[in-house]
Amino acid sequence: MRIAVYPGSFDPVTRGHFDIIERASRLFDRLVVVVLVNPDKRPVFSAEERVLFIERITAGIENVEVDSFDGLLADYFKEKGATAVVKGLRAMSDFEYEFQMALINKQINPEMETLFLNTSGEYMYLSSSIVRQLASFGGDVSSFIPAEIRDEIVERLRKAGE
Ligand code: PNS
Repeated sequence: MRIAVYPGSFDPVTRGHFDIIERASRLFDRLVVVVLVNPDKRPVFSAEERVLFIERITAGIENVEVDSFDGLLADYFKEKGATAVVKGLRAMSDFEYEFQMALINKQINPEMETLFLNTSGEYMYLSSSIVRQLASFGGDVSSFIPAEIRDEIVERLRKAGE
């Protein structure tokens, strides 16, 4: 069984992430979306909330599982018996950081292959931090967040911005 791990902060999950989840789920037998700790970021949503949001939007995709973990991605990868790590790649600005991460992970575990899926064109500019900023100032993020979770996320981000 070919298992892929899609790691990230997902603070919050966007339609750009969902696009990667949908496409990656078709390439593997099983896709595990895992909320990890990025030590460079201070999340607005708790790991539990982020997992619940992702679970709700992926309920219709049978081979997707959602989890959280607060250690190294390499350890999680091994624990899951995964074949590959999937990451979405937007513009050149993502490349350097993602390339570094992929190389570090490969150094830790030579079996850890990272596959980059190019973002779909319409999500090229989209990021969780843009969504957080826009919502905290009362801007309209409705086209960036999956419909099932949009209202809750908007409400939470608006409060966080007060
Ligand atoms: O969505 P993000 O914030 O770009 O995702 C980055 C993330 C969470 C995947 C990355 O920070 C991560 O892998 N964190 C877990 C710790 C780890 O394994 N770091 C890489 C080796 S130093």
